[in-house]
Amino acid sequence: MTDLVAVIIPAGGSGERLGAKIPKALVQLAGKTLIEHAVANMAPIANQIIVAAPAGYEEQFQNLLGSEVIVVTGGLTRTLSVKKALALVEKENNFILVHDAARALASTDLAMRVIDSLRAGEKAVIPGMPVVDTIKRVDADNYVTKTPTRSKLRQIQTPQGFTRKLLQKAHTSPDDVTDDAGLVEDRGVDVKVIAGEERALKITTMSDLAIAQSWLLTSVDNQIRTGIGTDAHAFSKDSSRALWLAGLYWPNEIGVDGHSDGDVAAHAICDALLSAASLGDLGSNFGTSDPKYAGASGSQLLTETLQRVKAAGFTINNVSVQIVGNRPKIGPRRAEAIAALSHALGGATVSVSATTTDGLGFTGEGLGLSAIASALLLRSAR
Ligand code: CTP
Ligand code: MG
Repeated sequence: MTDLVAVIIPAGGSGERLGAKIPKALVQLAGKTLIEHAVANMAPIANQIIVAAPAGYEEQFQNLLGSEVIVVTGGLTRTLSVKKALALVEKENNFILVHDAARALASTDLAMRVIDSLRAGEKAVIPGMPVVDTIKRVDADNYVTKTPTRSKLRQIQTPQGFTRKLLQKAHTSPDDVTDDAGLVEDRGVDVKVIAGEERALKITTMSDLAIAQSWLLTSVDNQIRTGIGTDAHAFSKDSSRALWLAGLYWPNEIGVDGHSDGDVAAHAICDALLSAASLGDLGSNFGTSDPKYAGASGSQLLTETLQRVKAAGFTINNVSVQIVGNRPKIGPRRAEAIAALSHALGGATVSVSATTTDGLGFTGEGLGLSAIASALLLRSAR
């Protein structure tokens, strides 16, 4: 059996040096709070996650993090916050990682390397980075007392890993320390330093937050999102039904049956946009049960979809839709269709193409229309 891991994330500090009006762990970084980032990065390796929240913010933390995460009230110092969380670690966990909410972007990979080292037999494992500046020890009057050899120094990060029993024993000490390994060292136990990572930067000041933000926003997979959507409707038996397609009215054509105006091109684009933003689909956003959207036109749904996609932090790079059917002929009105769709989408770049299906399928047999769309979204910096 692999050893189970509990992760303790002290997040009880106020973040004085950051200077925000809210506790540091609740500060936003590219659309998520620091504590959400920290929990998301540790969740893949954790059997149990315990977060120490600043007093008075417990409920807000619990709502943000969900019921799988245990939230306790933090203490007056980081050490006391860790002690409170430690009391709730289940015995089934052989290993405990102690992390900082402030190191929100420390990777799952780093946590896994700490655990690997524990599994290989170490009792205490901490990540460290080489030191760039020369470090000097000074006395109370600021006279240098010692210059340790720089190459032998390490800048220490979290998550720090320990066997559960060792950490519990170490925390019986009343000492206040800046990291948990300090307590373990005092007991004469060997503490192993493994390679840390730049991303485990401790977010302390506004410039740290800006650095972390730039990492997230320049990472390609966070910037660009693609989505797809399709829709199909049967031509109506009612020959007086109007045809709406790609935001346009098509005189002398028979319309399609459907809950709204049956604009398959507009609907496919809405689905592509919602899909790219991970916001569900047309049904879950504008369900048939909601009378508000019963008579909504394709253009209205596009505009409403745009608002939701924007609210989720995205802008449209472009959308592309292909209409499938024998009629109407799209070519002569392509420019008009592009203008109508683009207008409904706040001026976005739109392309419209069309095809028949060589007499095959319901579109080929002239029974209805379908459309397929793709959308590319960019996460807007905020
Ligand atoms: N921490 C905690 N309980 C405290 C103090 C700090 O759980 N009483 C946590 C912080 O929330 C943070 C980690 O310990 O995740 C490291 O502390 P630090 O980066 O110093 O955060 P703050 O104490 O919030 O910041 P500052 O020192 O600038 O006020
Ligand atoms: Mg602090």
